[in-house]
Amino acid sequence: MNRLGEVRDKPDEEDPTRELLREIPAGKNLRIENLSFKYDPLSETPTLDNINLEIAWGKQTAIVGMSGSGKTTLVKLLLGFYPPAGGGILLGDTPLENYSIREWRKRCGVVMQDGFIFSDSIAGNIAPGVEHIDKERLRHAAKVANIHRFIEELPLGYSTRIGQAGKEKLWYHTVTSATSPSSTSIPTGHDCDGATTSGRKPVALRKSEHRPAHWP
Ligand SMILES: Nc1ncnc2c1ncn2[C@@H]1O[C@H](COP(=O)(O)OP(=O)(O)OP(=O)(O)O)[C@@H](O)[C@H]1O
Ligand SMILES: [Mg+2]
Repeated sequence: MNRLGEVRDKPDEEDPTRELLREIPAGKNLRIENLSFKYDPLSETPTLDNINLEIAWGKQTAIVGMSGSGKTTLVKLLLGFYPPAGGGILLGDTPLENYSIREWRKRCGVVMQDGFIFSDSIAGNIAPGVEHIDKERLRHAAKVANIHRFIEELPLGYSTRIGQAGKEKLWYHTVTSATSPSSTSIPTGHDCDGATTSGRKPVALRKSEHRPAHWP
């Protein structure tokens, strides 16, 4: 009950008194400038320490590094799950925080490494939080994940409930690969992909110093 109260009392993520930009412009690079972050504000060692990098519009960028070097953390900051402790993230010249985080996330497709199945229908898991699910996009996502035919063969199809118990585990790996909005709300610009990004110009985060180093 305490936990429920805690969640209920949390202020809305978007401050209703702030005027936020709702149009996410195309063609702008993502600029990460002197970005620092720590999960524990009292910790002496930052998780991300003064990161500088530019993610070019329309290009693939891979962020690679040792386990624990902060790749997922960086993606979480790009998605606005946590505010930076120092520095910032800009879209073009405009700080990301000036944009509506909801609109921004609609443009981000992400497959996090720790997938989660909600106690909901298959459709609800493929497009979580989407009020009116576009059936074509839903099918497209399932086809990309190679589970469309399986789903269609179920008596309740996309309305089949999945979640915590028993046989639903069968769906875990396949559905998690489809639950990303990357397939249902196909991002037009930057695709933040925690687990599988690859590209020609990767940026390596080295655990020893947490600084990005461009590969040749
Ligand atoms: N929620 C959290 N609270 C506190 N510390 C965390 C949290 N999440 C991650 N960390 C710590 O932050 C550091 C960076 O973790 P992160 O998950 O970003 O690394 P990663 O580069 O994605 O690693 P991997 O390659 O294993 O996925 C690690 O030391 C990790 O233990
Ligand atoms: Mg990770």
